[in-house]
Amino acid sequence: MAKVVLSISMSLICLIIVPIPTNKILLLESQCGNFNRSYFSNFTMFVKNSQMNMEFFLLRVLVPGVTMDIEFFISMQNSYGFQKIFQYTLDMCSLLAQRRNNMFKKWFATFFDSGNFKKYCPVEPNFYYLKNYNYNTLFIPKFLYAGKYRVKFDMNQLRKIDGVRYFLVGCAFEVEIK
Ligand SMILES: *[C@@H]1O[C@H](CO)[C@@H](O)[C@H](O)[C@H]1NC(C)=O
Ligand SMILES: *[C@@H]1O[C@H](CO)[C@@H](O)[C@H](O)[C@H]1NC(C)=O
Repeated sequence: MAKVVLSISMSLICLIIVPIPTNKILLLESQCGNFNRSYFSNFTMFVKNSQMNMEFFLLRVLVPGVTMDIEFFISMQNSYGFQKIFQYTLDMCSLLAQRRNNMFKKWFATFFDSGNFKKYCPVEPNFYYLKNYNYNTLFIPKFLYAGKYRVKFDMNQLRKIDGVRYFLVGCAFEVEIK
């Protein structure tokens, strides 16, 4: 399923190579309301002056097998609905170790400059933060035209011995790309 969606959007990228002259991201809505209280005692995210701030207290160690499911939805014109255009699953513990320089690696690399997130697993219980992160410096892929999008990030911890997935946290953003 994921592969199908991915290959469709990949061919879309090849067909529509429209340079976006101005990359301005307007954040319309953002929330990380859903988190696993066995893993986080608190999790807050707020935006101020076009900068994102995040704070959480991690209670349990994160080990290799942390995945991030990313889904992009586009707002349909003349309706209130959103349609999924892209989904991708990232292995967060090996992301930065990978030599391939994909878009997501670039995204998360800039995160680490604005906070105290650990770049490699295991990630020990501790207080972690992201401070004054300017999301307008994000690289915007060319397949995202100007328009309204919903982006969902869901993190899970996969237990490698038996394949059990524990939900960690889910964040959702509604953005307008200008
Ligand atoms: C978050 O949880 C930690 C550990 O339980 C606590 O020390 C801290 O004060 C909490 N922060 C907020 C903003 O509630
Ligand atoms: C949250 O984490 C705990 C501890 O690993 C786990 O037992 C529980 O199933 C998790 N909750 C969800 C919804 O995955």
